[in-house]
Amino acid sequence: MKMAPDIDMIKSFDSSYFLHPWQDCNSESSDYNMIVRSEGIYLFDANGKKYIDGPGGMWCVNLGYGRTEIAKEIAAQCEKIPYSSPWFSSTEPAALLSHKLSTLTPSDLNTVFFTTCGSTALDSAIRFVHFYFNCLNQNDKKVIIAREKGYHGSTLLSSSISGKERDKRYLDTIGNGIKFISDINPNLRSLETSEKEWCNIKVLELEKTILEIGPEKVAAFVAEPVLASGGVIIPPEGYHQLTWEICKKYNILYISDEVVTGFGRLGHWFASEKVFNFIPDIITSAKGLTSGYIPMGATIISDTLMTDIKESKNNSELLFANGFTYSGHPVAAAAALKTIEIMENEEILQHVQKITPHFQKRLKDLGKKHKCIRDARGIGLLGCLEGYSDEKLNEEDRLAFDHHFGSLIDKAAEKRGLLLRPIINMCVFSPPLIITKTEIDLMFDILDDAVLEVEKHFQ
Ligand SMILES: Cc1ncc(COP(=O)(O)O)c(C=O)c1O
Repeated sequence: MKMAPDIDMIKSFDSSYFLHPWQDCNSESSDYNMIVRSEGIYLFDANGKKYIDGPGGMWCVNLGYGRTEIAKEIAAQCEKIPYSSPWFSSTEPAALLSHKLSTLTPSDLNTVFFTTCGSTALDSAIRFVHFYFNCLNQNDKKVIIAREKGYHGSTLLSSSISGKERDKRYLDTIGNGIKFISDINPNLRSLETSEKEWCNIKVLELEKTILEIGPEKVAAFVAEPVLASGGVIIPPEGYHQLTWEICKKYNILYISDEVVTGFGRLGHWFASEKVFNFIPDIITSAKGLTSGYIPMGATIISDTLMTDIKESKNNSELLFANGFTYSGHPVAAAAALKTIEIMENEEILQHVQKITPHFQKRLKDLGKKHKCIRDARGIGLLGCLEGYSDEKLNEEDRLAFDHHFGSLIDKAAEKRGLLLRPIINMCVFSPPLIITKTEIDLMFDILDDAVLEVEKHFQ
């Protein structure tokens, strides 16, 4: 009989051999919570403790855990045809998925380039942009404008267009050909500046940057509809439409990074058009595409761009020499098709739209109740608590608070059965979209208690 592995041994293997993402290599020993079971919005650790999965995996397990329909689809596809080279062949799930996605995206965004994750979807978008302008003989158009606090991935290229400075402290990125514009967080504006004025300042900054570089050298602007891991920063009203207009004015492509906001997080398949009223040239997607059950990403390109390329050179070869062994992987495509089918059958988008006002009200109420919270912001089923250290605190306590607010809240919540994602002085959360009103209440009741504990500690 096969013996169950000893959990202490598993933990020691994890600590000794598994270098986790964003791991502090200087910490004496890593002690990751060993998750052994899952169901609905809940995770269970090796001690049998039950947690609400506040971050929904990593903004990805949109349909929650224990979806046997997806598991069965994955198993069936593995038996039928687990892999087929996308260089020389295609498979039914990949072809069906590309068509299905074309019906869910806005306007003429109909060409799907499959990738392995969000980072490679962004890499492929940037490479496609360069390819596009090279085909059009506009070879000087190379510069990508990105934003401070943006996050687009962890490959060399996608990390280079990411604007979280702390992440670049020990890692090199490409500086050449990438230009950043400043943080759009409306909370950074002065008391005298209205949100509308703030929006105009940021839009003008984009235009000024384009003019400084020279529009003939700028290829694309890349932006998340909502800056997710930058702290759930919601742009001022009209920002995306206005930046889109600037891009159109100077023949610059707009890449909308919907890796987090796609697939229902804001109550729509994609947020660019439905929530923010603009149609980008390229959308990048991943995470919720397969509900996190298996890795897959997609770079979705407009027909307009594809036609421009085709018309650019008479019958000469236009090789888009970019791709991955696992582009359009049939097992991942089958999981994505099943995810979309469940979302349609269970009316998940409608559920998110219905439940969002309650989620956002509980979030805002929490912010109003606790003095140690500077801002409780969110949109759809995305939320963030940002800490505020009382001026009356001594210097040491203020520093501790500002650096550790996120992890202190996270620890206090974890004790009470809720997982969060701490980011310095913030905590972000994005629970599975299937969360019910009762579960939202449970989540915010725990959060309320956790904030109270941290608040008391600093009194
Ligand atoms: C907006 C955004 N883009 C891209 C990525 C990169 O995705 P992945 O981790 O799947 O490579 C992430 C990851 O969190 C993200 O939040």
